[in-house]
Amino acid sequence: MTEKITVNTLKQMKISGEKIACLTSYDASYAKLQDTAGVDVLLVGDSLGMVLHGEETTLNVSMTDMIYHTRLVSGACQRALVISDMPVNSYTSPETGLSNAKRLVNEGGAEVVKLEGGKEICETVALISQNNISVCGHLGLTPQSISNFQVQAKTEEAAKQLKQDALALQKAGAVCLVLECIPSKLAADVTQSLDIPVIGIGAGVDCDAQVLVVYDMLGLTDKKLKFCKNFLIDQESIANAIKAYVDEVKNKTFPLPEHSFE
Ligand code: KIV
Repeated sequence: MTEKITVNTLKQMKISGEKIACLTSYDASYAKLQDTAGVDVLLVGDSLGMVLHGEETTLNVSMTDMIYHTRLVSGACQRALVISDMPVNSYTSPETGLSNAKRLVNEGGAEVVKLEGGKEICETVALISQNNISVCGHLGLTPQSISNFQVQAKTEEAAKQLKQDALALQKAGAVCLVLECIPSKLAADVTQSLDIPVIGIGAGVDCDAQVLVVYDMLGLTDKKLKFCKNFLIDQESIANAIKAYVDEVKNKTFPLPEHSFE
C-alpha cells in the first residue's frame, strides 16, 4: 500500500498543486476498486438515498443508513481518506451534531464528517472540531435544503455570501470544503482564498479536488449532467474507468471548461 491519505496529506496536495481525486462510495466492492485505483478520498454521500434507495431526494437517509454504508467502505479501504455525510436532521443543534459525528467515527469508521450549510452551522462545526473530529463543509447546491437542482450563487450578493460562509467554516475548524454547482470563477476565488482544500463538483477546473457520484461517472444513472462525464464508455471495466477518472483529474484533463458553469 502506498502511504495512507490523511487530512494533512490533502493540505500538502493543495500546497503542491497536485489535484485530489474523490468519488462517492457506498459499499465494500466499490471501495476496494476505488482504493486500488488510487482514488484519494472516498465520500460516503447521502446521495445513497437517491442512487441506492431510488428516492428523489436525500431527505429519508438516516444515521443508521450512514453508519452502515460508512462501515462497509471504511472496512474495505486502506489508503483513501473516508469522508461520511451527516444526514439531514442529524445536526439540528451543536450537541446533537457532536453526538452523531462521534457515532459516524466510532461505529462507522469515518475519518471526516461532512455537514451542509454556512454561518448557521459554524457553532456545530466548531464543537465537533474541538472534539478532535475533522469536519468537511458543503456549500452551493446543498441537497438537504435545496430541492431544485440549479446552479447556485449566481448573483453578486449570493456569491459574496457564499465566500463569507466559506471563510467562516474554515475559521470554525473545517478541514476541507465541498462546493457544488456554482460558477467556476467564484469557485476559483474561494479556492484561492482558503487554506483548506476545496473539493468541487460542477464548480469548474480550479478547485483543489474533484468529486463525482460514482454511479453518474459510470453512466448508471440516466441524468444528463453538464459537469459529469461517462468514464466507462471508453473502458473495458469499472476498475479501468475509475483509474481513467483518477488519471484525468490528476493530469487536469477532467474537468474541462465545458463541464463548468459561468
Ligand atoms: O451526497 C453526496 O454524494 C455529496 C456529493 C455529491 C458531494 O454530497
